[in-house]
Amino acid sequence: MGGFSFKNLTFTVLIFLLFWCSNMEICNARRVGRHWRQKGSLEASLLRKKGKNHGSNHHQGNGGKSKQKAPSPKAAVPPPLPPPPVAGPIKGPPATMPPPAQGGDNAPDSSVFNVLDFGAKGDGTTDDTKAFQAAWAAACKVQASVVNVPADYVFLVGPISFSGPYCQHNIVFQLDGTIIAPKSSSPWGSGLLQWLQFTKLVGLTIKGSGLIDGNGAVWWQSAPFDDDPLDDQSKLIIPLNGTETPKPPVPVTSSLGGKMPSIKPTALRFYGSFNVTVTGITIQNSPQCHLKFDNCIGVSVYNFSVSSPGDSPNTDGIHLQNSKDVLIRSSNLACGDDCVSIQTGCTNVYIHNVNCGPGHGISIGGLGKDNTNACVSNITVRDIIMHNTMNGVRIKTWQGGSGSVQGIHFSNIQFSEVQLPIVIDQYYCDKTKCSNQTSAVALSGIDYANIRGTYTVKPVHFACSDSMPCTDVTLTNIQLKPQQERYHMYDPFCWQTFGQLLTPSVPPVECLMVGKPSSNKVQGDDESC
Ligand SMILES: *[C@@H]1O[C@H](CO)[C@@H](O)[C@H](O)[C@H]1NC(C)=O
Ligand SMILES: *[C@@H]1O[C@H](CO)[C@@H](O)[C@H](O)[C@H]1NC(C)=O
Ligand SMILES: *[C@@H]1O[C@H](CO)[C@@H](O)[C@H](O)[C@H]1NC(C)=O
Ligand SMILES: *[C@@H]1O[C@H](CO)[C@@H](O)[C@H](O)[C@H]1NC(C)=O
Ligand SMILES: *[C@@H]1O[C@H](CO)[C@@H](O)[C@H](O)[C@H]1NC(C)=O
Repeated sequence: MGGFSFKNLTFTVLIFLLFWCSNMEICNARRVGRHWRQKGSLEASLLRKKGKNHGSNHHQGNGGKSKQKAPSPKAAVPPPLPPPPVAGPIKGPPATMPPPAQGGDNAPDSSVFNVLDFGAKGDGTTDDTKAFQAAWAAACKVQASVVNVPADYVFLVGPISFSGPYCQHNIVFQLDGTIIAPKSSSPWGSGLLQWLQFTKLVGLTIKGSGLIDGNGAVWWQSAPFDDDPLDDQSKLIIPLNGTETPKPPVPVTSSLGGKMPSIKPTALRFYGSFNVTVTGITIQNSPQCHLKFDNCIGVSVYNFSVSSPGDSPNTDGIHLQNSKDVLIRSSNLACGDDCVSIQTGCTNVYIHNVNCGPGHGISIGGLGKDNTNACVSNITVRDIIMHNTMNGVRIKTWQGGSGSVQGIHFSNIQFSEVQLPIVIDQYYCDKTKCSNQTSAVALSGIDYANIRGTYTVKPVHFACSDSMPCTDVTLTNIQLKPQQERYHMYDPFCWQTFGQLLTPSVPPVECLMVGKPSSNKVQGDDESC
């Protein structure tokens, strides 16, 4: 590699090119670019580390540092799913001649916006929120642009919304560095529902090998219990004498001065967006839920990780609400509440090849709280491994709700040391007592196939509504074995559950009722959905 003079030469050429480009409508320097891009990227990052004295070149300044189609070598991204096509006009023709090295370069530099070039320090202590805002504002204007959050930096970012009603489509948020949340209370005001929010975008992708760290410990500790009721299913779990009681998430008085607001933020939330993808990244220690999709159509999450302690309160892994056409696969979810939580308004959800644990399992619900109408349909959960979770696969509804849950398929699920592998609970109540009500969310068409492994409390718990029994519940190939003597053990339980055991099961589940409930019980052709 050339010495200092070569570097200077490269840099000069770079500046020249940029100046030249900036005078043209469309920078078409691709051909020239091929020759300097490889080294240019190295040089650019070296220069940056030595002290950022290249302020003039701003967002174009990172030369070939990052390209929309071919990110840094470490993120060798196989696009196994059809990502939203990177639109033609900007990208130019696909490389027909072999590029000089593996770094293909289809993107003009004007579409890459590195947060460092917008003033971010990435030292873990300086507030970089404004830099992120500025980088986003610039990226928003360019179709298929890339916001680059580079590796080896730690960015302290406060609550922020990457909002897009007027943004171009198919923006890539290339996250290879680390983003951390403020630990002090002041940036959160009196409480916010989310920390990093993406709204009203089309085709947004977050990818890379980066980390989002919510610094949740300060929230878990200072949280009052009132807003964080314990999981109702814990009532079924009675430790035996002489064994350790399951560790409840006991709040500890915060040793830090400022008390965090009682409303705890979700780490990363998408709202009202189409065709969004999250891949490669890890989210850890969120104050509350880690990744949430709300009112989204077309969601793809793969090769994604959540990592939080099993006793961190209310820290769902992925939360889906009012969203459809959702794919979650090839991911590791470890947290203190549901690994995946599917709420009202979700349909066509496919979850497979997911490891869950610790956590509370994969849940549909709680639905119908405060007499609300809830509709969930066509959910497939398969090829799942759960270890050391409270529940396995669960459907939970509150009394007094309406609507329906139908077309739910759980298959190929391997449990180990799961307290309650199969749960339907239509009496969900996270207060001490809830009064019985007649209306309920109707449950039908729920099948469980090839479910095996070990449990520590009760293998099957079906508690359906008196007024609205569960129908068409089928069990095929269930093999669940008790393990260890830590909790009071129960036999399978069914209440008002109609369906069929399609093959003999271990243990035998003899409590399913054959046929249909008497007609006076069934209101449900759920016109409310
Ligand atoms: C998953 O993401 C990581 C980055 O976190 C990346 O290094 C790895 O290649 C990805 N694996 C697959 C199979 O895509
Ligand atoms: C547990 O211990 C208490 C007192 O220590 C005793 O009264 C109770 O019977 C024991 N229960 C079981 C199931 O052994
Ligand atoms: C989302 O992706 C699907 C399939 O690729 C496509 O048909 C649809 O038009 C996209 N939606 C938007 C709003 O771009
Ligand atoms: C159910 O969802 C899957 C995706 O998980 C989809 O392919 C299928 O078409 C949906 N079925 C119906 C009837 O909508
Ligand atoms: C509610 O109904 C269930 C099931 O019939 C019954 O076991 C329970 O005792 C009832 N609870 C109240 C408070 O009436």
